Amino acid sequence: MGAITESNIDIDFAGVNVAPPADLDLRPDRLEFGRVTAPLWFRAWYRKGEWERGKIEPWSTINLHPAAIVLHYAQEIFEGLKAYKMPDGSVALFRPEMNAKRMNHTAARMAMPELPEHLFIDGIRALVDCQRKWIPDPPGSLYIRPTMIGTEPCIGVRASSEYLFYVIVLPSGSYFPQVPSGKTGTVRVFVSETVGRAARGGTGDAKAGANYSVTLQVIGMAKKKGCAQVMFLDSHGERTVEEMGGMNVFFLRGDTLVTPPLTGTLLAGITRDSILKLAPTLGIKVREEQINWDELLAGVKSGAVSEAFACGTAAVITGIESFVLENGGEAKVGDGQCGPVTHKLFDALRNIQYGLAKDPFGWVVPV
Ligand SMILES: Cc1ncc(COP(=O)(O)O)c(C=O)c1O
Repeated sequence: MGAITESNIDIDFAGVNVAPPADLDLRPDRLEFGRVTAPLWFRAWYRKGEWERGKIEPWSTINLHPAAIVLHYAQEIFEGLKAYKMPDGSVALFRPEMNAKRMNHTAARMAMPELPEHLFIDGIRALVDCQRKWIPDPPGSLYIRPTMIGTEPCIGVRASSEYLFYVIVLPSGSYFPQVPSGKTGTVRVFVSETVGRAARGGTGDAKAGANYSVTLQVIGMAKKKGCAQVMFLDSHGERTVEEMGGMNVFFLRGDTLVTPPLTGTLLAGITRDSILKLAPTLGIKVREEQINWDELLAGVKSGAVSEAFACGTAAVITGIESFVLENGGEAKVGDGQCGPVTHKLFDALRNIQYGLAKDPFGWVVPV
């Protein structure tokens, strides 16, 4: 990846103190995920059919017309990636080009303009570079949230002609408060058999905000049952496993790791893809296949399915302790602790992300 092409980015925060405040505790275990936003953003406007120059500056609240299309027809899409501190003090991103491509896949689905990949990646690299002091030490990281919204004021149901793309960054530790940073804990997962997340031909494989709002009701219900996440089945009654509200999912059945294929109704997770590539190099067999929930549950109960984990940029790899069912039942996975295969993958992935192991795939991109 070449040098940052600053020719299309303005940087202007002269006179602004962008260091973290002295009273902010940046130790990963003290940070609530997604709560603290660093002071600068990268933003670019799309107007009159083209992207204008991008700018790094102190972020501000966004003035939107009450008729802005994003507020009515949910033209909002986003991405999520992280910057990591390397052992030599340098900073790196993990597979950012995958996020750039996925953002454009989502943009196309939501009738939003394509964003040049260099604007996405150079903007992020420059933004992280300007805010290095905000990156927590390992096992923490800087969570990066690129976002695009349709801002044109118009109540007609159509795509906006004007867009704001922006990136904010947030120092982060563990995604799940009950899992310490840098460790693989386990969480209880609610299985949503009746509430669906994505329909065939819908937007399940797009990272659009609308996909998340439809999960909030059942996530709220799951939390009341002591579950940290919800696992969704397909919405057409075949009872196949798809993914979680914000993560993909893997199961260890016998000696093989299995995960649902990308059928268009689930997000093509970059962590998922990394695990599919990494597992064989660790001697772990892995396969994408349709997974029937009832068969899987029988396997969990018999012990044939001995491990299960969720994976994503925010959650990294988090073991599943048990599945909580709509009928009130609960099926523990193995002994409810993080299993050896989950551990092995977690360590291997994190060691690459934090520069502690060789990166044979070329996934780590210096800032
Ligand atoms: C619905 C959904 N599935 C899966 C993932 C995992 O994707 P990734 O590994 O690229 O973070 C995410 C998080 O981005 C997500 O929101």
